[in-house]
Amino acid sequence: MTKAGAPSAEIRQRVAALRREIEHRNYRYYILDDPELPDAEWDRLMQQLRELEETYPQLVSPESPTQRVGATPTDEFAEVRHRIPMLSLDNAFTEDDLKNFDRRVRERLSIDGDVEYSAEPKLDGLAISVIYERGVLVRAATRGDGTTGEDVTTNVRTIRSVPLHLRGDAPKLLEARGEVFMPMAGFERLNADAAKKGNKVFANPRNAAAGSLRQLDPSITAQRPLDIFFYSVGAVEGLKLPSSHSVTLDLLKCFGLRVSPEVRRVRGASGCLKYYADINRRRSRLKYQIDGVVYKVDSIIAQRELGFVSRAPRWAIAHKFPAEEALTVLRDVEFQVGRTGALTPVARLEPAFVGGVTVSNATLHNMDEVRRKDVRIGDTVVVRRAGDVIPEVARVLLDRRPKDSHEIRLPRRCPVCNSTVKRDAEAAVARCTGGYRCSAQRKERLRHYASRRALDIEGVGEKLVDQLVEAAVVESPADLYLLDLAMLSDLDRMGPKSAENILAALQRSKNTTLARFLFGLGIRDVGEATAAALARHFGDIDSLMAADVEAVRQVQDIGPVIAAHIIEFFADPNNREVIDRLRRVGVHWPMAKTNSGLTQPLLGMTFVLTGSLASMAREEAEDALRALGAKASGSVSKKTSYVIAGRDAGSKLRKAEGLGVPVLDEDALKKILSSQRPP
Ligand code: IVH
Repeated sequence: MTKAGAPSAEIRQRVAALRREIEHRNYRYYILDDPELPDAEWDRLMQQLRELEETYPQLVSPESPTQRVGATPTDEFAEVRHRIPMLSLDNAFTEDDLKNFDRRVRERLSIDGDVEYSAEPKLDGLAISVIYERGVLVRAATRGDGTTGEDVTTNVRTIRSVPLHLRGDAPKLLEARGEVFMPMAGFERLNADAAKKGNKVFANPRNAAAGSLRQLDPSITAQRPLDIFFYSVGAVEGLKLPSSHSVTLDLLKCFGLRVSPEVRRVRGASGCLKYYADINRRRSRLKYQIDGVVYKVDSIIAQRELGFVSRAPRWAIAHKFPAEEALTVLRDVEFQVGRTGALTPVARLEPAFVGGVTVSNATLHNMDEVRRKDVRIGDTVVVRRAGDVIPEVARVLLDRRPKDSHEIRLPRRCPVCNSTVKRDAEAAVARCTGGYRCSAQRKERLRHYASRRALDIEGVGEKLVDQLVEAAVVESPADLYLLDLAMLSDLDRMGPKSAENILAALQRSKNTTLARFLFGLGIRDVGEATAAALARHFGDIDSLMAADVEAVRQVQDIGPVIAAHIIEFFADPNNREVIDRLRRVGVHWPMAKTNSGLTQPLLGMTFVLTGSLASMAREEAEDALRALGAKASGSVSKKTSYVIAGRDAGSKLRKAEGLGVPVLDEDALKKILSSQRPP
């Protein structure tokens, strides 16, 4: 940016306003551990301020937030001065940013070929310095403003992955630096617990980690699931450091310090980009949150030659993933009607780029959530989209609420069929009472019936169902089987080949299992596991349809609420007729012999599948186990008979090991299925 003349009053005001805003955000972020603003928005504010200060250097003052790295420590903890400042990293947001970084490195080092980098995940936690004197942990400090941090020794000592003594031949002094973070599972547990007790929940794992480490009472920190990865060395005495960063990390490992297992040595910008793509792909499967990757020139000599610019090294850069949060404006709220009539408030947003895609709709879940988050139409909101999950309105910026904002009201009548809307007494959900009369519910039920885990009718998806219902050719699942070539070909964009394929898929779907059929009926709260339990228990649909509440409650894991939904469903003459018609058009399943155990060698056993299997999909394996009488469950407990661990099995496997539940591999599973015998 070019230097300009004297700044106008307007510019001065803008700079002052930016500083005020950033100070306020810093306070919320660093002191309260409760940010409202997405990080990207904070970056943008800082960037604007930096640019203005570069253009008008006369406006720079030592108090400006650009003049320090972080925030000042609170006075609750003793101050610690870092012997060597703890720096920050520059960011690359695009491939070009990264290539430019690599080019600058090569130019400064006068290298023609590829530079060797150490590539590492950028952990989303907080930086910490841990000092070992003659192998003994004597001090741990936060980064603070980079020069002075807070003494959090007693708290860090409670983190079990931080050794209190180094292994092996420890030097006189070693300052290891790394990132303290909270793994996702622990974060979710902590928040669920806090919510139950009515306490404050943390916005994200990073804030939870920061909040936990900055507890004045170390016994609280001790209960928090914190973890650490070390990623560099600060001050050392009595030790000759290796000549590359990657070997330095190996040395840390030898001392018993935890280093990320994802660290790799890569060559050149192309190696960096490959690493980035690989980690990004596996990101949602990591046990902890990362917000990008860091590339560091591996040679320490080259690092020295490159040196630093004000707050960051020239030899490293953080390559960030697209932000998962963005600011936007909530224009309107519409209510979507689901399969069981549930009304979901959906936010219509000013389009925002988040998580790598443009988002203009986001869920608000239900009215209780709307109240809890205090969302109004016209509000500036934070949308979140992490991985492939549905975008949601995460929170509201109350200080940006316009005067003409208005409240979100639950409609009294269904927006689709105009039936009355009822609120469930027991839950937060409001429902349309229209049942099959409501075309939205009809569509959702059809979609559900045809879905992969139900009757698995390929080609009968969202678009086709919409057309069929709107053209009034199909009302219930039974009508699907009355479709013929002529009717299908009449539809928009339907070639003869696809029409034939759909008819063939419909034919195939007639041969099914009772569990899939019951699941496909879309009875409220009857998911796959419950449907399978019902099928196992009753063996055929007639006895289930004849059962009373007591009989249904005999089924494993079915409580009074679900039992009532099941009874209610089969009491409805409409539903009974649909079932009759489906059987008449030829939908059938193999008759289960009985529950005698003869055909069900795995009766009474519970299996949990985790990780991915090479030879079959997890659902397939679960179906096959159920067919032999076993229960397939999603979570491990003392009651689990066996855990089957596929590739990349994680927390469930660990839990099984912890509880002493026997663990089998895929080969053992295949043996069970082929021999039809318990392991
Ligand atoms: S190296 C001089 N490596 O990112 C280089 N930092 O934006 C100092 N961070 O304060 C940092 N993962 O809290 C480094 N593998 C990694 C990291 C990492 C996360 C954090 C760290 C640092 C911030 C800089």
